[in-house]
Amino acid sequence: MARTAPQQTDAEGVDGGVGLTALLVAAARAIETHRHDSLAQDVYAQHFVRAAPACADWPVRIEQVPGGDDNPLWGRFARYFGLRTRVLDDFLLRSAGAEARQVVLLGAGLDTRAFRLDWPSDLTVFEIDRAGVLAFKQRVLTDLSAAPKVKRVPVPVDLRADWVTALTTAGFDPAVPSVWLAEGLLFYLPGPAETYLIDTVDRLTTAGSALAFEAKLEKDLLAYRDSPIYTATREQIGIDLLRLFDIGPRPDSAGDLTAKGWSTSMHTPFEFTRRLRRGPLPEPNDALEGNRWVFAHKPPAMTSAARTPTSTQGPPSRT
Ligand SMILES: C[S@@+](CC[C@H](N)C(=O)[O-])C[C@H]1O[C@@H](n2cnc3c(N)ncnc32)[C@H](O)[C@@H]1O
Repeated sequence: MARTAPQQTDAEGVDGGVGLTALLVAAARAIETHRHDSLAQDVYAQHFVRAAPACADWPVRIEQVPGGDDNPLWGRFARYFGLRTRVLDDFLLRSAGAEARQVVLLGAGLDTRAFRLDWPSDLTVFEIDRAGVLAFKQRVLTDLSAAPKVKRVPVPVDLRADWVTALTTAGFDPAVPSVWLAEGLLFYLPGPAETYLIDTVDRLTTAGSALAFEAKLEKDLLAYRDSPIYTATREQIGIDLLRLFDIGPRPDSAGDLTAKGWSTSMHTPFEFTRRLRRGPLPEPNDALEGNRWVFAHKPPAMTSAARTPTSTQGPPSRT
């Protein structure tokens, strides 16, 4: 079922460009949800997939996939997303259970954690993504009469623009400990936007806050162009991930956070596969080889009064 889809890299909603990747992850989570040995449950995921014309023929169960688990896209790559969802669910709940009372999902896409996780009742989840993606998400959730388990605040804004004003105007309080997540996001942003994002998370967080993000360490992403995962994603659903990723030089965000006094640890996904006994393992010509999950904590001992953003520290210009 080879197909080519136009890569509308700046399309606003979920019909094309980077917004369509939110549906790719939702389809993977739907497949994971229906597995007998599932790592994470997201009952909303399949509804997003079925509501979007762009992916009407995508599978939501592994039984619908030609080749099943041997399919590099809906088998191995989808299992990667299932594992990532579970590991980051655990991170968020652990961090929220400690001190944080605010969660900021950066590039939230079709993440339904506000609806499906058991959060402390006084917590607020802020979801940042582009307006078209959040509007589609809201439409589907409203049709399902879905109710969030905690206060949920969508913040429609582009992370290459001034998103700090949007977030603080939406009610985010820099003086209250927070936990942040950039899951499947940073490699879509230009390097300077990532640097600005990391600096900004540092400025907007007080002691006891935490951040997890996904990075790709490969120096030359294009070297993996013919990997089974990228090839299958291109040929089966017309998404050319390498045309959506920003392939310019990446900042060392984990190193930058360490230099700012955060304690950071970096892990391969394969470590969690072994720990949870489900998920992808290394293979030759592997597009997942350079993927890392980074967990960072701002030590409670740091008595930093959270600094509010100043007008001299704007976002990098859009590219
Ligand atoms: C691969 S999806 C991941 C979504 C979600 N974090 C998850 O794991 O399910 C990438 C998301 O990042 C969002 N995104 C990419 N670039 C963005 C930008 N410049 N501003 C805001 N959101 C952006 C996309 O709209 C999309 O929803």
